[in-house]
Amino acid sequence: ILLNRCHYALAIQHYSSSIRPPIPPFSPSSINKSSNVTQTFDTMLDFRRQQARRTVLIHLGRSHSESELYKLCSRIGQITNMTLYTANKKECALLEFSNEQSVNNLLKITSHFTNENRLPCASRNLYFSSQQTGTRLKYHPIGREVQQPDDSIIDKSLNDIRNVSDQIRFFWQKTKLTELDTRLRFFVSSLVEEAFGSIFVDTVCLPFGSSVNTFGKSRCDLDMLLTFEDFREKNIKRDGKIPQLRFLTKRSYLNDRFQAQAYLKILADTLKHFMAECTNVQIILPARVPIVRFQHRLSDLQCDVSMSEFKSSYYMSKLLWNLSSIDNRVAPLVFVIRRWAREASITQSTPGPWFSNFQMTLLVLFYLQSIEILPKLNYINEQPTTISPQDILAANVLGDLSDDTILMNELENIRYVQSNKANNNSLAILLKGFFTFYENFDFQSSLITLLNRKNMSKSSLIQTGKDKDWPIYLENPLVPSMNASKNLVESEGERFRETCKKASEILSHSSKNLLSLFEECHQILPDDLIARAYPAPISIMPDLETDINHDELTTINDIQQDQVFHNTHQQH
Ligand code: GTP
Ligand code: MG
Repeated sequence: ILLNRCHYALAIQHYSSSIRPPIPPFSPSSINKSSNVTQTFDTMLDFRRQQARRTVLIHLGRSHSESELYKLCSRIGQITNMTLYTANKKECALLEFSNEQSVNNLLKITSHFTNENRLPCASRNLYFSSQQTGTRLKYHPIGREVQQPDDSIIDKSLNDIRNVSDQIRFFWQKTKLTELDTRLRFFVSSLVEEAFGSIFVDTVCLPFGSSVNTFGKSRCDLDMLLTFEDFREKNIKRDGKIPQLRFLTKRSYLNDRFQAQAYLKILADTLKHFMAECTNVQIILPARVPIVRFQHRLSDLQCDVSMSEFKSSYYMSKLLWNLSSIDNRVAPLVFVIRRWAREASITQSTPGPWFSNFQMTLLVLFYLQSIEILPKLNYINEQPTTISPQDILAANVLGDLSDDTILMNELENIRYVQSNKANNNSLAILLKGFFTFYENFDFQSSLITLLNRKNMSKSSLIQTGKDKDWPIYLENPLVPSMNASKNLVESEGERFRETCKKASEILSHSSKNLLSLFEECHQILPDDLIARAYPAPISIMPDLETDINHDELTTINDIQQDQVFHNTHQQH
């Protein structure tokens, strides 16, 4: 492995001089450097989505055939970027043209496999079989991306860095999503969008969560939301449309959730039967947010597509992106605290009555607000609410409760907020400060909220029924008075506090560094909690790529799905 890495390291050095200048990636940190704030979350999304549509992903059947491929494709159109990488032992090239028409032209001359029993479906997942024999061609404008190293390799390098702040920044640099990671995520989203786009003309598939909110770690899952209109107001283009002439269409179900489930089933079928490289397609309907889960092999991404709560998922990503863009210490701090939490089993890779990565992120942001590095959100009207939690849940879609426009404006404004220059504490001090803050935090009576509330006690929120009993109250910043940590049990708050205390003590010794912090805080999940892990989600669509009688399985599936649909419909 090490030899391979050395080879790659040399390769990237060798190639780096010859890489064509790529279009500069959008990065929130560049906002800090520039006084002219031009990049927004939405311009970043639009840029990446357009880039993805100009891109094809090609599996190279033979090693070192990239020059030949480059030569072939450059005859079709101007290539803006070509990045080589290896996924699942396959050499791949992600190739971006300067315009979308070149992709269409390339697809027009792309042929189907004729020697195998395969469906003649077209997609931007391609295979290149080299014709070249003898000496290799030398076309050089090619970049090769080195994948982010494993944690163990990063940890070794951490030892060579003395200063904890530098260690934190190094750790973030080495674990965050790379340019290729981001390109692949938007590429896979655009494939899903295309798969549905031929039926629903305005289909939009957006990545959300850690893939876009600047807190994504290399190899994290890809969360996507699928909708049939671009709900981002500015993008609704009605120009040139004649209102008198309309498409005749089917009526949709009245119940959003039921509708989403019906569409997700179609999506799952489409991906499973027709979309190359999408495997292990599962449809998980009974979850709070129903999803289709699949693996995209050429990018090696684990993907989840959801269709409900799309507005809140989009707003949440935008909020986190904007907060992160205010100060370039936010993302590195979130990264290192999320790693620490994983080592200490404060978070787990599966859901249960413990903290999630998302909740851990909110804790960090709340702490940074408390020391005025980040601003409080200022869009709520702090009147006691009489809305019951049931009503909140029933509303389901953000906007029914809070005024979308006010929230939108607040989200737009927040990125113009300048970081508090008075607090120029180093990352090491902020890390220690985080632990000291939470070792003394009173989860029993205090509210954790990103909103600008005068009263920060839990009891200040007038709730009904059981709501005031939640052991930890982490307010959902988009739906005021809604607890985003209902899964947490009291003992986890206590364990978190104790682990923070320990971490704070470890960092008090000047000789200590990040590695010893991770090692000394390492613990395994208590037995009683292991038993309370949430059961694995049940897919109602097992992978059909196993050796099972397909006809039989499909029939069983249909019956199961009918039952699930029937039950869900009755519940609603
Ligand atoms: P990773 O662990 O790196 O995948 O982080 P993530 O932020 O992507 O978390 P996850 O995949 O669990 O969730 C994706 C997104 O869904 C989050 O970024 C949030 O925007 C949203 N989300 C997750 N959990 C909650 C929750 O409990 N409440 C609300 N309102 N949103 C949530
Ligand atoms: Mg995620």
